Amino acid sequence: MSTPYGTDDPTGAAAQRHLQASAHRHMWLHFTRMSSYAEGDMPVIVRGSGQYVYDDRGKRYLDGLSGLFVSQVGHGRAELAEAAARQATELAYFPLWSYAHPRAIELAERLAALAPGDLNRVFFTTSGSEAVESAWKLAKQYFKTIGQPGRYKVISREIAYHGTSMGALAITGLPGIKEPFEPLPPGGVRVPNTNFYRAPDFVAGDLEAFGIWAADEIERAILREGPESVAAVFLEPVQNSGGCFPPPPGYFPRVREICNRYGVLLVSDEVICAFGRLGYFFGSQRYGYQPDIITFAKGVTSGYSPLGGMMVSDALMEPFGAGYADSGGFESPRHVGHAEGPGRSGTATFLHGVTFAGHPVSCAVALANLDVFEKEDLLGNVRSHEAGFRATLEKLRDLPIVGDVRGDGYFYGIELVKDKTTRETFSDEESERLLRGFLSPALFDAGLICRADDRGDPVIQLSPPLTCTQEHFDEIEQILRSVLTEAWSQL
Ligand SMILES: Cc1ncc(COP(=O)(O)O)c(C=O)c1O
Repeated sequence: MSTPYGTDDPTGAAAQRHLQASAHRHMWLHFTRMSSYAEGDMPVIVRGSGQYVYDDRGKRYLDGLSGLFVSQVGHGRAELAEAAARQATELAYFPLWSYAHPRAIELAERLAALAPGDLNRVFFTTSGSEAVESAWKLAKQYFKTIGQPGRYKVISREIAYHGTSMGALAITGLPGIKEPFEPLPPGGVRVPNTNFYRAPDFVAGDLEAFGIWAADEIERAILREGPESVAAVFLEPVQNSGGCFPPPPGYFPRVREICNRYGVLLVSDEVICAFGRLGYFFGSQRYGYQPDIITFAKGVTSGYSPLGGMMVSDALMEPFGAGYADSGGFESPRHVGHAEGPGRSGTATFLHGVTFAGHPVSCAVALANLDVFEKEDLLGNVRSHEAGFRATLEKLRDLPIVGDVRGDGYFYGIELVKDKTTRETFSDEESERLLRGFLSPALFDAGLICRADDRGDPVIQLSPPLTCTQEHFDEIEQILRSVLTEAWSQL
């Protein structure tokens, strides 16, 4: 084998050394304490196939996190790569600034048909942060345009992650990753999340009452801030950060009611929860609520090319000219306080855009990705196997370190505790030693890609490709069982 520097290298060892040296010299990994690689190698993943990826030494890993909640259809799909190549040959790039191109149009139409209710317009971006940023900007400009200029605040939940750009970070509820960048844009307001495992005493043990309390906290925040100042509520269908908090029954219907009552937009941040993660194209469909805006990214292309976006109703686009088309099904806006009636389309311009948004190659890949969803009935696969996934992970509850197992679809968090009876969590020092010091490297060494996260209480997060079946759940369970047992013995 010939390496980049011309050495004959039959085992690939010299090529690996070269990559490591280069990586140590030039790479800056995201959200990574680079000093932790000062002495050791950086993991280098070189290829993927199905539910597995392989490192530069040829070692195989079960991709229990779909990369980063992305690889819905799994790795190594030639049809997606071919769609990208075809599109790059035909039209590699053209902006969505004043122009459209066929793949973006086709994808927008297809997404509109899949999305819940009247979400009929797609504003493309390249990432989830940009999608969230765009949704907040749209909410602000929308309210200014319809004569409610005081509405700029956004309500979101504690520990929720909504992205890293300044606006998205202001919506994010993780103080630790915000602090270095303060002051952030004003207007971010936090409310409790739906972690039932750590519910306050007065609603502990009553899931429904907990859900209503958590939803009503949003109303209390709106009233505290002044309804005339609140633009939007940003919620994930299942909150990822903190370890998969599904919504209690009644939560979203109540939130919808509250948003309607105060004329506040409900943004469903589905950067993780769309495209089959919960067994539906959109997470809001699983829980039966109608958002005003859905933000998406990640799984829309299964990562074969970057893409994100937001879907909005024609009603929300009306001040920006939605009524110019003979849309037939145009409906009255459901938002209290909307200034213009149907048919009185505005002429404002949404003053926002990014060069690579709705990239033709990414849109072609997204269309091919949706073809795979349909051809292989991936939503059906998740729905028919999710009970098995849950039951398999639930087996881990017999371990003393496992406090809670929670999630829906193919999206789970396992909360680790020091004492199961009291639910006592680990100190910062223990968490550092347990998660960063032991669990993350041990799980990787054992051949499982997942995430050990302590941005809230310590959790292990799982989000495998939607093609997984029982054999993969068993493999995940066996690896977790052995590594968590070892972790407990080291405490
Ligand atoms: C709910 C949610 N919103 C937004 C983002 C930001 O997406 P991106 O990393 O593509 O900018 C993420 C990323 O994980 C996310 O989980």
